[in-house]
Amino acid sequence: MVRDLVIESEALTKAYGPHVALDSLDIEIERGATGLLGPNGAGKSTFIKTILGLIQLTSGQGKVLDLDIRTQGDEIRKRIGYMPEYDALNPNMEAIHQVRYSGELLGMNPGIALQRAHQSLEYVGLGEQRYRKVDTFSTGMKQATKLACALIHDPDLIIADEPSNGLDANARNFMLNTLETTVNSGNRSVLMASHLMEDVERVCDNIVLLHKGKLAAQGRIEDLKAIDKEVEVHVWGAASKMEDVMKNRGMKVRREGRVMRVRHEGDNTYDEIIQCALSAGSQVRRMHDHEASLEDLFLVIMERLGQDVKSSDDLLRGI
Ligand SMILES: Nc1ncnc2c1ncn2[C@@H]1O[C@H](COP(=O)(O)OP(=O)(O)OP(=O)(O)O)[C@@H](O)[C@H]1O
Ligand SMILES: [Mg+2]
Repeated sequence: MVRDLVIESEALTKAYGPHVALDSLDIEIERGATGLLGPNGAGKSTFIKTILGLIQLTSGQGKVLDLDIRTQGDEIRKRIGYMPEYDALNPNMEAIHQVRYSGELLGMNPGIALQRAHQSLEYVGLGEQRYRKVDTFSTGMKQATKLACALIHDPDLIIADEPSNGLDANARNFMLNTLETTVNSGNRSVLMASHLMEDVERVCDNIVLLHKGKLAAQGRIEDLKAIDKEVEVHVWGAASKMEDVMKNRGMKVRREGRVMRVRHEGDNTYDEIIQCALSAGSQVRRMHDHEASLEDLFLVIMERLGQDVKSSDDLLRGI
């Protein structure tokens, strides 16, 4: 089967002076929704700006929608919708004209740009507020306006850098729903940079995980979770002893009180757990395959990279 790639890079490297922000990245992003994850400073925004041709790469190559990122940046920016990380709006403009203007910058005729600006603002939930100046908007409304600017030319691919940044629960919900709908209706693709596992898990089927400028993992979330299959065991009595017995046998155990998560190594993992319980004098009350979250997966990958990260809160603080 020919893979339908919207973004690909080969040995993509970007250095800011002596600092290597992107280190020889081989990335393949298929059509659909992809989360770009990584701690602060991992290189998410740099990757986005590089593939959009907004900053020059140092070496390597890449394509977006089959266009060369080194030579066809203008064409790429016309074909995709970009929602930047920082506030990129003109505070003195009314939302409708801000969005119309972004269409004109893409080469749209002013009449069509205005008509599309009305539709885009309606779509992101700002139909009623479209004649208000941007500086009277809340953070959520500004983010929605940025999304409307990105959608004005109905692009096949939307690249959103931290789209739910700074939003309260309602606004965040609305933003994620809108992105989800944008992908699901009309075979569009989204690349969404985020710190928030939950957001990515909700909208995306695939992830690219960066860590200190290097590629730590990429692929379908479902496939990646298979590297971390665990059995959840609820025990009664002698839990610490049972944990020791399992560890002495070389089993991988994570314990939270009476609940233990044991790495699923093969068909006999369940039998081995029972044997350990018997020899420790513990009672197994319940045992089942544990449905890993994206956060669990992230913790396992970080552990394998030798990083001491306990939760995605650590991720927010940077490591
Ligand atoms: N213009 C620049 N000049 C020098 N160094 C830069 C520049 N922009 C980014 N960097 C450095 O490159 C690295 C990657 O930064 P980048 O902004 O891409 O990370 P990020 O993953 O988007 O982080 P965040 O989650 O904080 O948005 C960081 O170490 C950062 O300090
Ligand atoms: Mg960033």
